[in-house]
Amino acid sequence: MRLVQNFNQHWLFRAEPVDDATPDDQFEPVTLPHSNRLFTRRFVDNRDYQFVSTYRKRLTLPPLAAGKRIFLDFDGAMLVSTVFLNGVRLGEHRGGYTPFSFEITGCVTPGENVLMVYVDATENPDVPPYGGQVDYLTFGGLYRDVHLRIVDPCHIASVFARPVDVLARPRLECDVELSQPADDLSLEAVLCDAAGRALARKTQTVSADRFTIELADLGRVALWSLEDPALYTLDLTLSARGTPIDRQRVRVGFRSAGFDGDGQFVLNGAPLKLFGLNRHQTYPYIGAAAPARLQRLDADILKYELGCNIVRTSHYAQSPHFLDRCDEIGLLVFEELAGWQHIGDENWQALAVQDLQAMILRDRNRPSVIMWGVRVNESPDDDALYTRTNALARALDPTRPTGGVRNFISSTFLEDVFTLNDFSDGIKPPRVRPHVITEFGGHMYPTKTWDHEERRVEQALIHARKHNLQMGHPGVAGAIGWCAFDYHTHKEFGSGDRVCHHGVMDLYRLPKFAAYFYRSQKPLADEIVLQAATNWTMGDRSGGGNNPLVVFSNCEEIEVCVGQQSLGRFRPDVEAYPHLPHPPFVVRWPNPYNPWGMGVEDLTVRGFVDGACVAEQKIAADHLPAQLCVWAHTSGLVADGVDMARIAVQIVDRYGNVLPYQMSPVWLSLEGDAELIGENPLILVGGQGACFVRARHSAGTVTLAAQTDGLAPVTVALRIDALREGGVWSMDQGPDS
Ligand code: GAL
Repeated sequence: MRLVQNFNQHWLFRAEPVDDATPDDQFEPVTLPHSNRLFTRRFVDNRDYQFVSTYRKRLTLPPLAAGKRIFLDFDGAMLVSTVFLNGVRLGEHRGGYTPFSFEITGCVTPGENVLMVYVDATENPDVPPYGGQVDYLTFGGLYRDVHLRIVDPCHIASVFARPVDVLARPRLECDVELSQPADDLSLEAVLCDAAGRALARKTQTVSADRFTIELADLGRVALWSLEDPALYTLDLTLSARGTPIDRQRVRVGFRSAGFDGDGQFVLNGAPLKLFGLNRHQTYPYIGAAAPARLQRLDADILKYELGCNIVRTSHYAQSPHFLDRCDEIGLLVFEELAGWQHIGDENWQALAVQDLQAMILRDRNRPSVIMWGVRVNESPDDDALYTRTNALARALDPTRPTGGVRNFISSTFLEDVFTLNDFSDGIKPPRVRPHVITEFGGHMYPTKTWDHEERRVEQALIHARKHNLQMGHPGVAGAIGWCAFDYHTHKEFGSGDRVCHHGVMDLYRLPKFAAYFYRSQKPLADEIVLQAATNWTMGDRSGGGNNPLVVFSNCEEIEVCVGQQSLGRFRPDVEAYPHLPHPPFVVRWPNPYNPWGMGVEDLTVRGFVDGACVAEQKIAADHLPAQLCVWAHTSGLVADGVDMARIAVQIVDRYGNVLPYQMSPVWLSLEGDAELIGENPLILVGGQGACFVRARHSAGTVTLAAQTDGLAPVTVALRIDALREGGVWSMDQGPDS
């Protein structure tokens, strides 16, 4: 039977190429995912990760039945990897975003074996995304998981489980490919719900190495929807002469998703305007090497904090952990092949096509994925290449439309959906339907958490205006803003600190005002949102004062008070934003409240629904730091050597509002067996910052203490649970799973 083992533990790392003879004690012990180096949070120089690293791992396999095949499966390594076992070169993989495997059957020995992986993170112009300028950093290292897989020579090589006719008579068609033919084979397919109850079961004789098994008569299946993303497990057991020889499990969601004749996106029969943000997979300090828990956190932030229904994985296939979470929580995904504006020569193009193929094969069972991006982001037309990528995507997955992100409307339309980066103030008239806006905002209005208030408010309103327009436009199926989180970039881009401050959240995933625009579009039933987009300062805006006051809220009405005096009740600005579910409140007082140089009092904003006050926000007029706030996004970690908690730090006024011009140092100290990743002292920017606490290999409790001048110190405790027997990290083990 198939044995799959997590292979992230017990690696040795050296930040240069060294040979077999170099003793182990000249390496650093590391656990995957691993970044070839750690960085400061800003001013990251891309030259610093461009080198060849050596990863070594000693492995001894359990006694195996004769004839097994053994593979090493890499989820992703940046950017070119060369793999050796016991001095034998197994091969090279070029490309940083999609999985690759090497078979070690022929050269593995019964005793100890030495695996060496050379990971070259040079920005190699022959490998996508490089060759031109690229507006993001790729970082380097074995930055995703590795697994060891031991299988029978005849095993299940791929599974494509396709829910069919889900709204009427749901059934599951499942294409199976075997590694090789064998005699007297049968396959049992069992479909189970989340509680493990079997809905359908079927066994069929197998006479070819590619076949389809169908599970019909499923009765009522729960649909995968955004509100309730029901997932099922398809369990496949391959037997030879009645004895099981392989088993594969695939998660399945029953949903119908696509674009209708009018070009609107329709999920399970109901039209849905796509409302979302782009995501880069990079982080402060750790580059792209975020462990599962942080990957999952990003999906949670997009769905629950930002209220998005879709994310675009700009501009490459992202971590399986991120996508797992999208499947689990009901967040739609537009996934695309790696690249940025540049198309290279024939060999480069072959790698791009290979990357697309690997991405689709990896992710075509995911209910969250609704469209494949088959063009290199914003590249020029190349009809030959894009005819090929479209054909490939349609052949590998006839159930999903293709898109391909361009930045000029006249580009040749070879895809199923016209996906356009539209940075105009309005909406570029769609040429065809379906038409999806895949980027807007971004470099048109970079905004830092410590920019002046007008700028931070305007960034939020740019997102509000575009979504208002797209929601009211019958020819537009949706819009995906640029972007969710600030990201590191090359010197040709960014604000001079090697960061593109384009996010509605900062590098740490902490909000700017624009984040509250997104959040305020959530239905009231999910969460009541009320956020005044001001710091209530009298002299920060040009000309002074706070007129107009913008408030992001899903309440029906707000009341604004200064001190004890009510300035009145206000309704959302439906005139300017008629199409948004919850237009911002734009309060323009008839007699502008502009007490420049006069006494000023606290601001109170109250939110009302059905006449009742359901939310209140107060902002202190004195702007004085009142509290240091520190919190972890999880109550605990797993002692696997890489699990991480984001520890957010903010300095707030006496009502809890972040003070954007707080740039104080916060000193951190960690007690217990864990590692602090970040800068210490952490210098806040925009009143906020974050670090990570990384588990080592021992269970217990760790406490992080934070202190800053003049405010009470704060501590945060984290529980660290032992890693489960077998060393396999699993999200269902961890705290807060
Ligand atoms: C787009 C590009 C993105 C990012 C963005 C900045 O043109 O596709 O990757 O660079 O601009 O606004």
